[in-house]
Amino acid sequence: MDYQWYPGHMTKSIRQLQDDIKLIDLLIEIVDARIPYSSRNPDVEKMCRGKARIVILNKADLADEAENRRWMNYFEGQNANPILADARKKATLKRLLPLVNKACQDKIERNKRRGIINRPMRAMVAGIPNVGKSTFINSFSGQSAAKTGNKPGVTKGKQWIRLNKQIELLDTPGLLWPKFENQEVGLHIALIGSMKDENLIPEELATELIRRLKDHYASMLADRYGIDEAKDPAHILEEVAIRRGCLKAGAEPDLVKAARILIDEFRSAKIGRVTLESAEDLVP
Ligand code: G4P
Repeated sequence: MDYQWYPGHMTKSIRQLQDDIKLIDLLIEIVDARIPYSSRNPDVEKMCRGKARIVILNKADLADEAENRRWMNYFEGQNANPILADARKKATLKRLLPLVNKACQDKIERNKRRGIINRPMRAMVAGIPNVGKSTFINSFSGQSAAKTGNKPGVTKGKQWIRLNKQIELLDTPGLLWPKFENQEVGLHIALIGSMKDENLIPEELATELIRRLKDHYASMLADRYGIDEAKDPAHILEEVAIRRGCLKAGAEPDLVKAARILIDEFRSAKIGRVTLESAEDLVP
């Protein structure tokens, strides 16, 4: 399977993003805590030079807690102002506000020296599809300023949401595209659901997921599906089909159905909290 992105969407979102970045002091980059490496955009650093930055490790509620801590350490080491978040919870905002002040400190000082006092910092959120950008904006706007779901063109015009006296948030999230430096990155993006599912082959995706679970979270497979995790991934998928009663005519295991169950239960963390990429792999 070849994991692809769409060049047409990309050109449009680059242009939009470049325009929006001119308006802001702070970029809040949302990544998926289950794949913090693959869900980051390779060019965002360059595009946001001179702007304050925060990295939100979102969907932290679905990710492995030990790995969450490692990723926090990693991003802290990069001075990226990281925060673990569940964008659906308003409590996230309380933890985020002090971080915004810290990230924007230089700009606030510069403004003060120029006699600009009490000008709110302007921020925008950006991230690849499905990481929780609209959820984040909705949670903090107090009203339905941005609709959840990945529907291009939902919000029109520039609107700013006042989070408090010091911060205003652009109501339109910036759409970033993932890096596709290798198939592993593409696979991870497909697994968390940031790629259109209709372009994917569920059995292949599920087999790759099983391979990774076997390596790092083998007991989850046994606990959830009552299968022997020592078997090879293709056999495990077959067993999941049988255990879950996914059978075709002639009692053949329905692998597509079983694959969809497995992928859904991974995405919703019913299997357990899984992180597919370890920060330890990035530390030299
Ligand atoms: P986007 O704007 O970046 O494309 O993402 P969006 O806010 O639409 O969020 C995508 C899905 O992720 C939504 O689920 C949303 O509820 C969920 N989500 C966002 N943040 C979090 C989080 O921190 N934790 C968890 N567990 N879920 C989060 P959905 O509407 O059900 O869509 P889908 O999952 O069916 O695609």
